[in-house]
Amino acid sequence: MTIKNDPQRMEKIVSLCKRRGFIFQASEIYGGLNGVWDYGPLGVELKRNLKDYWWRVMVRERDDVVGMDGAILTHRAVLKASGHEDTFSDPMVDCRTCKTRLRADQLPEKNGVKQCPSCGGKDLTEARPFNLMFSTQIGASADPEAIAYLRPETAQSIFVQFKNVLDTARKKVPFGIAQIGKAFRNEINPRNYIFRSREFEQMELEYFCRPEQGMELLDYWLEERLKFYENIGLPREKLHVLTVPDADRAFYSKGTYDIEYAFPFGLQELEGVAYRTDYDLTQHQTASGKPLDYFDEETKARFIPHVIEPSAGVDRTVLALICEAYDEETVTDEKGKSETRILLRFHPRVAPIKAGVFPLLKNQAALVEKAREVQALLRPLMNVFYDETGAIGRRYRRQDEAGTPFGITIDFETLGERDAALRNTVTLRHRDSMEQERVKIEELCGRLVSAIS
Ligand code: GAP
Repeated sequence: MTIKNDPQRMEKIVSLCKRRGFIFQASEIYGGLNGVWDYGPLGVELKRNLKDYWWRVMVRERDDVVGMDGAILTHRAVLKASGHEDTFSDPMVDCRTCKTRLRADQLPEKNGVKQCPSCGGKDLTEARPFNLMFSTQIGASADPEAIAYLRPETAQSIFVQFKNVLDTARKKVPFGIAQIGKAFRNEINPRNYIFRSREFEQMELEYFCRPEQGMELLDYWLEERLKFYENIGLPREKLHVLTVPDADRAFYSKGTYDIEYAFPFGLQELEGVAYRTDYDLTQHQTASGKPLDYFDEETKARFIPHVIEPSAGVDRTVLALICEAYDEETVTDEKGKSETRILLRFHPRVAPIKAGVFPLLKNQAALVEKAREVQALLRPLMNVFYDETGAIGRRYRRQDEAGTPFGITIDFETLGERDAALRNTVTLRHRDSMEQERVKIEELCGRLVSAIS
């Protein structure tokens, strides 16, 4: 796959995201909080649609997966047993000249000498490990027993609750526990917009199986996850599967794939699909002294299940969706003038707004009333946006920029004023092709619901 970096395209995307209310810098009016982002009205809908679709295909449409929602505040012992307290760190150096703290493994070199990328200084300290977890204190006590962590991944609460879920959900291996939720990492170098943040969301599945099923299920889940990305509008040719080399894998993993996407800033990881063996459950069983094994009714054997883990980033996928959808094209308006049309070609399934509803003229009560009726009809089924201001062409353009796949215009034909046969029909305009067709209001719900499901 040939990847070309395109900083200009990225700049345009960042600017559109702010201008249209997808993503804002967190705490912006106070100067911003580095590596932390807020989602605006369009961003939150896009993110929610992504999470809902993941939940639908990974949990609701499967007999072998159940969900959970674990706490963010995590007992120190959990993250001690998982290895995070001792080893979840990046090697850091300080530049003695400009005092910048830097990742030791990302330093540029000149003539074989490492340099500070901020000031070019070569006077750097020795590398020291810097733990990426955010710690906090539970209650008023200041003693070390009161330390808790904001979870660095959602996975650990799934492992810790494995027995409770197994006992209550009555599942047999292979089965999975899925979770979507916030995770926190004190990244030294947050970068590439929302790609590497300090607060982000994960969509994780821990899929428990017999040891002999592990390698086959690793490949099964890789394929399932690739299909997922295609189904939300990321084409296969923009996805790359990296087989993580032995030396780069966690020591307990028997195989790991990274699913990467060709972002405008390069090929970067969207999701890891890892065969974690029985490492996590064994660690927690040993540290807690509580049995986390599984009794196989068929063979009457007890064993610690092995785990396949597809772990995806919500924010990274949101960014990939926006990058993939962004497009500019030259179009000619009704008066023959050419202009640039900016649009987001989101898959209707994830689009923040599914349809714009427009009365042709806002000063015609009958058109407004009918448009409000159409809005009320669609609202329980999807997110629609009512807009009566400006020329109809402008209204279409505004929705193109928001990525709205359908525009519905209520005009005089709808009222049956020109042709009785057209009464209760609307103009349905398609974002990508800009084609328009006449559709009966009674058929709208069915047409749109099948497009967005
Ligand atoms: N439970 C396994 C785990 O957490 P990971 O590779 O560290 O594995 C999984 O994270 C996914 O979470 C990544 O593929 C990425 O999509 C997302 N992710 C990790 N760190 C992130 C960060 N700092 N900002 C945004 N997303 C992040």
